[in-house]
Amino acid sequence: MKIPTEHVLDVEAFYDRIIRFYDISFKFNRYSRSLERYLNDRLPALPEKPRILDAGCGPGLLTEALRKTVGCQARIVGIDLSAKSIEVAKQTVGGAGNSFNKIQFMQANLLNMPFHDESFDLVVTSGALEYVSLQIGLSEIARVLAPGGYLIYLPLRPTLAGYFLAVSFRMKMYMPDEVLESVSSRFRIISEHLFKASEPIGWSKTAMLCRKL
Ligand SMILES: C[S@@+](CC[C@H](N)C(=O)[O-])C[C@H]1O[C@@H](n2cnc3c(N)ncnc32)[C@H](O)[C@@H]1O
Repeated sequence: MKIPTEHVLDVEAFYDRIIRFYDISFKFNRYSRSLERYLNDRLPALPEKPRILDAGCGPGLLTEALRKTVGCQARIVGIDLSAKSIEVAKQTVGGAGNSFNKIQFMQANLLNMPFHDESFDLVVTSGALEYVSLQIGLSEIARVLAPGGYLIYLPLRPTLAGYFLAVSFRMKMYMPDEVLESVSSRFRIISEHLFKASEPIGWSKTAMLCRKL
């Protein structure tokens, strides 16, 4: 498969430039706390030492929510195109001290991940598939998931806040029908979660728990 490198460089340079702003604004809107609450409620049963991937981890807010939820036996890997985002992600999870050693970050493209087939029990992704072809991104995620492995995916919603994010961060807005169709071609959708109106994350995102077909 040919990876469009020009687009990759654009996204990388864009996030290298704005990552501090992104990090502060998402901390301000209690994004991590909402993610942590969702994961506490909905995380599926995983193997004793689960292998988990955060695809397009950015500043590591979802990675950190995972770290707090899955327990210290987990091995978590975060990948992102932007080297500066990875530096920030290391600070985000390193600040907490404890299980930092089991979290690894690397600069990589989620369309062409440097992992063997079936390497992970759970893949989480938020705000990254909006930069790529949804079908190709989901198919690469399915490739690295073990049989019966889980995907937690937080797609953008076509709301005012969703469009504001899409324009501000140069994302594509996939319509709910397209999301459902693309996800269903590789995964069984177990649940779709609507966040409470009091949680800013819910103004622009939903969360889907899916299992590899
Ligand atoms: C909106 S941020 C989301 C960050 C984080 N997942 C979160 O929820 O806060 C999007 C991130 O996806 C990354 N990204 C975009 N396209 C990517 C790709 N093809 N491979 C890896 N990372 C990518 C960007 O560099 C950026 O850090």
